[in-house]
Amino acid sequence: MNVRIVDTAEDVAAAAAERVAHAVTARPGVVLGLPTGRTPVATYAALRQKTLDWSRVRTFNLDELVGVAAADPRSYRSFMHEHLFDAVNLPPAHVQFLDGTASDLAAECRRYEAAIAAAGGIDLLLCGVGLNGHLAFNEPGPSLVARTHVESLHAATREANAGAFGGRVSAVPDRALTIGMGTLLGARRILLLATGAAKAGVVAAALRGPLTTELPASWLQVHPAVDVLLDREAAGAVAP
Ligand code: GLP
Repeated sequence: MNVRIVDTAEDVAAAAAERVAHAVTARPGVVLGLPTGRTPVATYAALRQKTLDWSRVRTFNLDELVGVAAADPRSYRSFMHEHLFDAVNLPPAHVQFLDGTASDLAAECRRYEAAIAAAGGIDLLLCGVGLNGHLAFNEPGPSLVARTHVESLHAATREANAGAFGGRVSAVPDRALTIGMGTLLGARRILLLATGAAKAGVVAAALRGPLTTELPASWLQVHPAVDVLLDREAAGAVAP
């Protein structure tokens, strides 16, 4: 893994936006995997400031909450429109999301896997990491799922997502649709972003600890092309 430590969260955002901009410029039809969460907000803000042609870019978001409709302001689709999509010339037909309100969730997961394959796979996948080591919504446990699936969210993950639900943890859906670990690790290049002292422990374990299904992010170590961008705080426990 190629680990780069910069001073601040703003520096992480600037460097991440630079990577994405480079990917889009080098390959106008690039396929991006995109995350939600607090971490990428500043990266999307930095991207909005760039003059880039998104007309041939295609995107797949990594996950979506079950039961939250696309038009709901709390959906991850709404998040992406607010933070990036409404500000760039990305054709709506090039944007893919999992539908958390699909009547047949298993079929929706199969559709998503097929769509990613039909796009030729994900070229550059951005991700954050959950405090418990989850990637997208692949939660720690005795096993991991390779392909896109329905995941039961851990209490801590629902807590971390409560902000959008008026701080009410009970209002956060207890399930999500997520790309699987195999889908994620199938991306040609992965850019992991982490900022803030709260992530220091999980980042160190993910980068330097043993591979374990109890820490999905540890599996990034087996991928041949992972770039990790950390601010000083998130890098605090990573041995040099
Ligand atoms: C969320 C998302 C992940 C994200 C993680 C960390 O719930 N499903 O894709 O990376 O949790 O979020 P944050 O960046 O807010 O710490």
